[in-house]
This record gives sequence, structure tokens and C-alpha cells, in this order.
Amino acid sequence: MQNDHKDYGTASRRSAGEKVQQSAPKLASKRSTTGKSEVHSGMPALHVAMAAPEISPFAKSGGLADMVGSLATALERLGPKISLIMPCYRSVLQGSFQLEDTGVRFTVPISERREAGVVLRAKIGNATTVYFIRADRYFDREGLYGTSESDYPDNAERFVFFSRAILEVLKLDPPDILHAHDWQTALSIAFLKAEPGLHPQLSSLKTVLTVHNAAYQGVFWHQDWHLLNLESRFFTPAYLEFYGKINFLKGGLVFADRITTVSPTHAEEIKTTEQGFGLGGVFRERADSLVGILNGVDYDVWNPETDPFISKTYGPNGFLGKKACKADLQRTFCLPESPDVPLVGMVSRLAGQKGFDLLQKALDDMLRRSLQFVLLGSGEKRYQDFFGSVAMAYPEKVGVRIAFDDSLAHRIVAGSDILLVPSHYEPCGLAQIYALKYGTVPLVRATGGLRDTIHQFDPKTGVGNGFLFGPYQASNLLEAADQALALFDRKQEWKTLMRNAMAADFSWDRSAPAYLGLYQKLAGG
Ligand code: GLC
Repeated sequence: MQNDHKDYGTASRRSAGEKVQQSAPKLASKRSTTGKSEVHSGMPALHVAMAAPEISPFAKSGGLADMVGSLATALERLGPKISLIMPCYRSVLQGSFQLEDTGVRFTVPISERREAGVVLRAKIGNATTVYFIRADRYFDREGLYGTSESDYPDNAERFVFFSRAILEVLKLDPPDILHAHDWQTALSIAFLKAEPGLHPQLSSLKTVLTVHNAAYQGVFWHQDWHLLNLESRFFTPAYLEFYGKINFLKGGLVFADRITTVSPTHAEEIKTTEQGFGLGGVFRERADSLVGILNGVDYDVWNPETDPFISKTYGPNGFLGKKACKADLQRTFCLPESPDVPLVGMVSRLAGQKGFDLLQKALDDMLRRSLQFVLLGSGEKRYQDFFGSVAMAYPEKVGVRIAFDDSLAHRIVAGSDILLVPSHYEPCGLAQIYALKYGTVPLVRATGGLRDTIHQFDPKTGVGNGFLFGPYQASNLLEAADQALALFDRKQEWKTLMRNAMAADFSWDRSAPAYLGLYQKLAGG
């Protein structure tokens, strides 16, 4: 099948070895005569395939990975059959995951070539299958999308390949819904809908595209157009053309049956010219199909009562464990072990979006206050350099770790008194939600999902779970910080605030049913 004439994407199973022979029929045997997958009751189970460029625990550069991994687990509990599709990065190959070769080999067109890939798989949860697209020349690299200096120069090709590969995996066991995440997978929807004749097995498939960060659109110069093998009529403003360039995210947005983003406030924000990052018009045009669903989190992973990474567990009824976690964190960063000095923590990608320029401006003033500050993150070099030098200048007050370190992230969330999230914009934000559960009080800018999850504490009524500031100015950040620091000294009120924070419930129980409802409506209509 590999040399099929104009079949854009052919999946073939290589008859090589026992494993291969065994795995192929398994994929097919779950199909009923109606073409729907079935559960034991005999009722057709909704089958949702989620495609994402990163999924926890296999590969993670940010909140997207956690969101997809935990949503999959939550959805599985609600009944549908879930499949996941992601690239087979080095972290997958070198991790301790039980990968199985499905025996599936495919080729897809890239420009005038055909590029080959292999489908591996693993199981997570009770019955969720994760499919990995293996093509080492594209994905067996140090980073997911690039280095701290720049993106990989062939990202257009890498994610055209991945998006076409997604459709090949879907053909093995056609689902009812394809739920794609972010620009790296958006073209799978465009390819499906722009070339329906090439994917007859997927003719009834409905599509959802979730935008986790509208600022990242996968924009490439027009000379890359040949990689996509789409007719030139699609390189026009109504489709993928974007100010003379190719916009992958836009390709998904114009073709998807439904669009979601990760908080209700952000769904409104992206329709504006300022926060639509050039796509405000597209979001406005598709407003009837656009909905904001707040992310949930997985409290099996982020829970101070069970967290294996922290030095002592604790819950809402006693904070001794939290004190131990704070002391442990201070030791880790070689800061004085002072229980009464408020410890402000940050765990974040070092990107402009996250408010680091604002923090840069406010930092000297902030460090005149009695506090300690610890930061964990990696990303843009200018911020890595800046915060590295701040740590050198203030060794008694500031600790910085430039790294991606999940275990240290848990220890910072547990050991800090205050978690700072001063984002310029924030589609949802997960760190502040994790912090709440650990009784670590969020101090955030009122934008996007931060506004939907954090409510200003009012000492008079004892209501609220954190501190917010509005306009993006250093003075506003400092004012909110002063409020938080003043309250920290009023121990009883601070405890009330901590308890409010810990009582907040942002588990997927709230939000997964909203996704399920969306899928069911689409599949039914
Ligand atoms: C992106 C967004 C963040 C969101 C996450 C998961 O990283 O910037 O706000 O929480 O995706 O949806």
C-alpha cells in the first residue's frame, strides 16, 4: 500500500513477527457491524480520540500536557472510550513506559515526498490507548519544539507530518470525535475537511479544536505551503492564509465543528482585537461554535494529603506538614529557615506571557519587603539570565532554579505561603489551582482563567481564596503583594484564607461533563 497513487496517507501493517500479527486484529475486533465500538452492555460507547503535541506523563513542556492527560482520565470514568495520539519524542523513547509496537507502518505526503512513520502504543488508566507516532528524524530530539534559543527550523514539516499521521491512526479504529489540541494538531482537522474524498473511512467524524494559547498559532512563511499538499484555494484569507503567511491554528479554526478554549473569560477575551492575537475576527466569526470550558485538575496527582514528592503530607485540618515543607524548601534553596518570613513561590514557563517583564520592574521594590522568593522554570534566555543574576545578588532572599523539574514543582507549591502568577494573559492557568489545594495563597493578575478561579479575599467577611490585581502595572502588583504580606502577619485570618483555598474544588468532576455533553451533541447531530 505504500505507493498508493494519490491516497494522502496510507496505513499498512507490516507482517513481521508475532507481536505485529497479534496486535492488528485487536484493533479491528472492537468494531461492531454498525461500525461503532461497543461496551459490555451492548450499547455503542462514544469513542473520542484526542490528539495533542504533549500529554502527561509522557512529555510535558506546560499545562497543556497536564490538561490532556487528566481530561482523558476523567472522561474515561464517565464512560466513553478514549484514544490519545501524540508524537514519540525522546522522553517517550527513554522513559520507563511500556511501549508496544502495533506493527502499523504508514506513509504520508510531505511536499512531493512520502514520509514514513510507525505507530507504537501504551495503555493508561483503565482502558485508554495512547498511540505514539514514531519518526525519529522529527521527534527524537532534545526538546519538543525547539531549544531555549529558538524553535526548530523544520517545525512546519514536523507538525504537517504529525497532523497527517493523526488521520492515519484514526483510520485504524475510527472514532466518533476527533478532539485536537493547539496548532500542532490543528491541521489534522483541515486535512480531514478540505480533502474529504481522501479519508472516506472518516466521513462521519466530528471535530473539536481546543485552543490552549491563542498566541501560539504555528505561523510559517508562504514558501512552506508546498509541504501541506493542499489546493491553492486554501491559501486565501478565508482559510489558512494569514497576512501573507500560513497559519496552522487558523486552518483548524475555520474547519472545526466546535472550538473550545480553557476558561469562560478567555473565550470572551480572544474575540477581542487585542487578545485574539490577530485571530480575533476568526473567533468572532465562529462565536456560535466557540465555548470556554474551565480546565480541571487531577487531585490524585496534586494533593498535599498524598503527594509523594513533598517532605511531609498535610491536609486542611493541620498545617504542621506545610511548615515542614516550607523549611525543606528554604533548605533546598539555601535560604534562612525562618517560618515567619513569607515565602513567595513561582513555577512557570519563563515566557513573556507569564508576566516576567512586570516582575522584573517590581522586583527591586518587592525585595525591600520582608519576604523570600523562589522561582522554578525554564524558557526564554533573557529571563533565565535575569533571574539567575537576581539570585546571585540576593542569596539570602532569592532562590532560582532554571530547570523543568516536576518533583521540585510539587515542593514549591507545598512549601510556599504565596504563589505568584502575574500573567499578562492566561487562558486558564493550572499552577494557581494546584496552589489552592496546598493552602498556598495565589496572588494573581485578574485575566483569563485566573479571574475565573481566584476571588479576592475580604477580611471583613472572610470570603475569598486569594489576591488579584488588575491593570498590568508594577505598582498594582506591589499593592496586591502588600495586602497579602499584611494579612500573612494576621495569623488567624491567614488560616481562614488558607482553608478557603483548600476547600475550592477544581476537579474534572466540574468540567469533564461539559466536554462529554459537547461530544454527545456533536455525535448525535
Ligand atoms: C496553556 C495556557 C494555560 C493553560 C494550559 C492548559 O499552557 O497558557 O493558561 O492552563 O495551556 O490548558
